[in-house]
Amino acid sequence: MIAKRVIYRNFRNISEAEIEFSPGVNVLIGNNAEGKTNALEGIYLMASGKSFRSPRERDMVKFGESFFEASLIMEDSEREQELYFKAYSGEITKRRECKKNGVTLSKISELIGVFRAVLFCPEHLAIVKAGPSERRSFLDIAICQLKPVYLKSLQKFNKILTQRNALLKQISDGIADESLLEVYSEQLARESAFIYRTRYEYIKRLSEFVKVFFSELSKSSGDDAREVPELVYKNSLKITEQLSEAEAYEHYIRLLKTNTIREIGAGVTLYGSHKDDIEIYLDSKEARQFASQGQQRSLALAMKLGEGEISKEYSGEYPVFLFDDVLSELDPKRQRFLLSKLGDRQVIMTTCTPPPVESDAHFVSVEGGRYLFS
Ligand SMILES: Nc1ncnc2c1ncn2[C@@H]1O[C@H](COP(=O)(O)OP(=O)(O)O)[C@@H](O)[C@H]1O
Ligand SMILES: [Mg+2]
Repeated sequence: MIAKRVIYRNFRNISEAEIEFSPGVNVLIGNNAEGKTNALEGIYLMASGKSFRSPRERDMVKFGESFFEASLIMEDSEREQELYFKAYSGEITKRRECKKNGVTLSKISELIGVFRAVLFCPEHLAIVKAGPSERRSFLDIAICQLKPVYLKSLQKFNKILTQRNALLKQISDGIADESLLEVYSEQLARESAFIYRTRYEYIKRLSEFVKVFFSELSKSSGDDAREVPELVYKNSLKITEQLSEAEAYEHYIRLLKTNTIREIGAGVTLYGSHKDDIEIYLDSKEARQFASQGQQRSLALAMKLGEGEISKEYSGEYPVFLFDDVLSELDPKRQRFLLSKLGDRQVIMTTCTPPPVESDAHFVSVEGGRYLFS
């Protein structure tokens, strides 16, 4: 799958622009604050339905303007498609509009999965050391692009969790009774079980890819160390063998039923998908504690490459790789390794300094929200 062209109007610091991409390596190069990340943000918006920088769509509207428009012309092995996104600034209460091939989509979830991309930013290099919510978000963004039903389940889960937490708080404050709690617990367990099943499978597959990439990376950088990484799904069930969705549901329900008093005491839901994490090990030792910074970065890189492989397994085509200022954060060995792994895929990267790429890469110079093929 490739991004062929992106068209912006009033998007961040871009008044109007049209950027063409080649199917191979594309380099957006320019000084700081010229609009390199802005261009990537708009492309990633088409893959994930939201910005990777701001929770609010209106932040992407150019200062002083009332709306932005972004279009992406993409191509997969079957056909060319056009995705379109329009959102309004704070003063206007109109809802956003999304279109696929000119047809308005009723929900943003219908946009997701059409264009698939793997985003790699400097923050992701710290995924091993980051908090559980960053690792859950890594998982969720990756899986949502592959399974729209997973996104729906997550949305339902979050809604039920909010309601259930509010109820628990009211019960603990003595202003509500427990009659509704059972209904919420059942719904929460149902979504948690589906999410459990999906995350379990994803992490298991990802762990296999991480093993391969980590070992290749160690070899290519001449490391003597031959540690073996493993990713383990940590969840409230605390059961290591793989459960079916029905079994997971039974376990979640039991946990919620037998811990009602604790939960009322705490005033929040203590069991469910919001407590999940990925534990990352190197030779059975927790990587966040024991791995060197270099090893942690290699693990992060292997996870990102693995994300791309799973996406390809799922749909038969590689996603587009978006690297925001990430290459300059890596030492030359890791840079070379990463680039060598991306030979036949489309990469769109941003950078301030010329990267070590082949001379046939497609360079676009970025200046003040303008993009010139150079
Ligand atoms: N909504 C907006 N309207 C206009 N300019 C914006 C908006 N949001 C960010 N900017 C500007 O975009 C620039 C940053 O662009 P960015 O793509 O992050 O830079 P870089 O090239 O370093 O990646 C800054 O000058 C910032 O002020
Ligand atoms: Mg930037």
